[in-house]
Amino acid sequence: MRAAGISVRTGVFENECTALNETFNKWITTGQPFVVAKCGMSLDGRLTRRSGEDPWITGPAARRHARMLRAQVDAVLVGASTIRADNPRLTARGVRGARQPWRIVLTRGGRLPQKARIFNDRFAARTRVIGKGTLRKVLAELGRNEITSVLIEGGGDVLSQALDARLIDKVQIYLGPLLTGGPVLAFGGRGAGGTSEAAFLRGVNYERIGQDVCVSGYPNYPA
Ligand SMILES: NC(=O)c1ccc[n+]([C@@H]2O[C@H](COP(=O)([O-])OP(=O)(O)OC[C@H]3O[C@@H](n4cnc5c(N)ncnc54)[C@H](OP(=O)(O)O)[C@@H]3O)[C@@H](O)[C@H]2O)c1
Repeated sequence: MRAAGISVRTGVFENECTALNETFNKWITTGQPFVVAKCGMSLDGRLTRRSGEDPWITGPAARRHARMLRAQVDAVLVGASTIRADNPRLTARGVRGARQPWRIVLTRGGRLPQKARIFNDRFAARTRVIGKGTLRKVLAELGRNEITSVLIEGGGDVLSQALDARLIDKVQIYLGPLLTGGPVLAFGGRGAGGTSEAAFLRGVNYERIGQDVCVSGYPNYPA
């Protein structure tokens, strides 16, 4: 075009354009799905309250906001304990025109309640149980099956593996204004050796939703 005398500018809104296509770009260049880690977290980094109580960490508006993420990915992935504890639907309900993503459940022991919603609702055919392999291998296999994006929704065990193995491309964390204590950490695992080894976020965005705050960004893993 330049040779034809047409004025050309490149790199216009480069970051914005890259963000628009971030999932496909990752998958097409690496074969691995773009991985988003999402959870509702108390201010002290816990994922859950003691059982028997209202289990929600965040309010209804934040949970609705989070469900929109499901409409943007090819698959949602959780650990088996989350199915056993919460019996979640993992649907994109309430999002107009949303396509139901695959629902991937990881289990080594295979002990999953057959009455769980994900096996019995109208999207049951979109549920897959995967029983072996590291999280990295599971994601690679999903990538080979043309799943370009995966939303990891917990629980803490699976999120920790994802962070330790540096598999997370983006986080979307909903912080509720409460302290719960207790054993279920959102990101436990091995952890970073020191602050210099921690994954600082770039492109951080803060959004207040009702009484909760949604923090999103892209972990920058140190060399
Ligand atoms: N606030 C939130 O956003 C949120 C979201 C999700 C969950 N939660 C809470 O988190 C709690 C559950 O979390 P959790 O840390 O205990 O467990 P989890 O991560 O939900 O599940 C752990 C289980 O997943 C399976 N698993 C993990 N990694 C695997 C791998 N690489 N390959 C095959 N299977 C694998 C194993 O299942 P088997 O034991 O069957 O072998 C393991 O015991 C619940 O209390 C739930 O309410 C909160």
